[in-house]
This record gives sequence, structure tokens and C-alpha cells, in this order.
Amino acid sequence: MIIRSHAAGPDGRAVPALPLAAVADRSGPVVPVVHLPVMAAEVLAALAPRDGGVYVDATFGAGGYTRAILAAADCRVWAVDRDPRAVALAGILASAVPGRLQVVEGCFGDLEALLAERGVAGVDGIAFDLGVSSAHLDDAGRGFSFRADGPLDMRMGGDGETAADLVNRLPESALAKIIFEYGEERRARRVAAALVAARAEAPIDRTGRLATIVRSVVPSAHDGIDPATRTFQALRMAVNDEPGELSRGLAAAERLLAPGGRLAVVAFHSLEDRVVKEFLRQRAEAPPAPSRHLPMAPVVPRAMTFRLLERRPLVPGRAEIEANPRSRSARLRIAERTAAPVQSKS
Ligand SMILES: C[S@@+](CC[C@H](N)C(=O)[O-])C[C@H]1O[C@@H](n2cnc3c(N)ncnc32)[C@H](O)[C@@H]1O
Repeated sequence: MIIRSHAAGPDGRAVPALPLAAVADRSGPVVPVVHLPVMAAEVLAALAPRDGGVYVDATFGAGGYTRAILAAADCRVWAVDRDPRAVALAGILASAVPGRLQVVEGCFGDLEALLAERGVAGVDGIAFDLGVSSAHLDDAGRGFSFRADGPLDMRMGGDGETAADLVNRLPESALAKIIFEYGEERRARRVAAALVAARAEAPIDRTGRLATIVRSVVPSAHDGIDPATRTFQALRMAVNDEPGELSRGLAAAERLLAPGGRLAVVAFHSLEDRVVKEFLRQRAEAPPAPSRHLPMAPVVPRAMTFRLLERRPLVPGRAEIEANPRSRSARLRIAERTAAPVQSKS
């Protein structure tokens, strides 16, 4: 199975497609899947790769962004992913473009340390394409999907607690908090109570059973979205500490980007997009002028470490949504690093 390849760059610089079957032995069964990179043209335009530049694809996945960057300029890319299967794919691509692609297995929350260990202190562009890939969603064995039954796992990497561990271990109040905060599920308390009642009968260790329990207490919505969607999203975010990873990853990007370096972040739900928006607001916008009617508070001058390239998030065009419905909730925020030093606290 071939993952869709980007066309060659403007000068015909070809970057090969990736044969998925080649990673079967390293990391378990291979699922025939095609991951269409989301908003790749917009991400590429934001990064504006140049010859001699160094770029980070912090979420390699199936390599759509990496191949686009490599095809656009005679540059180098550091590809990071926490999933060993994605890393194995990246290794195959690296051997096809000698000296231009370095592969790192790890979490982008540790990006600064991961690159420092390899002698890299500054880069010209960093892209984040948050969340899971089609390879995760379409493989029932990874436990992300409520559409097909599988073990209740949800780990993007191979370590840490699974979703089953959390669902069967956490107190009801903690489950309700996760489902409410990360899933924005209004009926979080009812879902948590149903999970606790069900696990008293038998441990919840399959996605199918989890989905059935959630559907028994959350009614179907008019928009056709499966009632289990929000609870699955919440557990996935908790299992992989996605909010913590995002905050640490953005802070690392601020420290790693050289002046003029570009940041591109694609988020898929409002919670993540809010974190990105707030991060950039704090670093790219002057604080509001003090009110004339309130006692004077000391205004601490803050050096702006980013310049917004677009005030509002970019969204996929209709043609992309039609071709790839999973792109419909994507929001891309882009910014350019200024020369201001990073402040220790902000
Ligand atoms: C949406 S996919 C990226 C798809 C990619 N842009 C492409 O075109 O194929 C997200 C990828 O990021 C990885 N990932 C998610 N969170 C991560 C983290 N905190 N650190 C490293 N990799 C992460 C996932 O394993 C997944 O492979």
C-alpha cells in the first residue's frame, strides 16, 4: 500500500511515496490506510521553506508535510513522532533522501531536549499537525475508534496507561472531569456514573463496550455525530496528555525558532485551537491599554516573540473538505518568530 505522495517540487525535486508494507515487521500488522495531509498547501506557504533551511515536522504521521517541505527547497527536515510505526515510515523516507531527513522518536513536548541531544539549537520553521492520524483511527487494534471494536488502548506511543487503565481505575469524579473538560461533554457526570456502574460488572476493555455504555446515557444529536465521539476524544487526550504536550511543544517552538522562523499549527477541535490562540495572543499582541477609570496598575512591558501572519485561523477550502472530510474541523494558525528573547515567565 502506498501512502499518497506529494508532487515533486517546482524544480522537479522528487520525494518518494512511502511503501507502508515495509514497516510491517517492526511494529505489528500494517493496516492499508491513506492519510491525506490536511491543509498541506497552506502549511507549506506559511513555512516558506528556503534552500539551506532547517525545518521540524513535529508530527510526522505519514509524512505528508515532510515530503512537501523537502520537495519545496533544498533544505533539511527533522521528523518527530511518538508513534514507532510513524517513525519506521520516516526511516524509510530518510534513506531515500540521504542527508536531508533526520528522524526522531519522541514527544514534541520534549522537542527542545530531543534536538539539543542531536546538536540542534535553532530552526527555521516548525509544523504541528495535532491529534491522531488516519493510521490510528482506521486500525481497530489501536483502540481509538468507536466505529470498530478493538482493545481499549488509545496510546499513540507504546508506553503509559491505556484508556482501559484509566476507565477502570479512576474515581468517578476524575472521569467526569476528564470527559467534561477534554470532551466538552455536557452529560459528563452521567457518562462517568454509567462507566463506574458498568465496570463493577466487568472491566471495560473494548472500544465497542465503551461506546455502547456512552450511547446508553447520551442521546443522539441532530447533527448525526455519534454520542460516543466526545467521550472517546476526552479519553484519548488524557491517555496521551495532549493538552500538556501542546503547551510544552509551543513553548519549545518559541525557544527553538530563529528570528524570522515560522510556526504553523493545525488543530482539530476548539480546545486545542484555544490553547494555540491564547499562546500566540500572549506573545504577539500588546496588552490592552489600562482603563482611565481604574486605579493605575503597573504595566509590565513585554517583548513580542511572535508576529501573527494571519489574525484569524485559516480553514480548509470546500474542495479539500469534499476530498477529505476529516479536514473539516481543521484550524491553522501561523506566526513568525521575532528577534525578541524569550521571557522566562509569561
Ligand atoms: C495528524 S497526524 C500527522 C499527519 C501528518 N501531517 C501527515 O501529513 O501525514 C499526527 C501525528 O502526530 C503524532 N503525535 C501526536 N502527538 C504527538 C506528540 N505529542 N509528540 C510526537 N508525536 C505526536 C501522532 O502519532 C501522529 O502520527
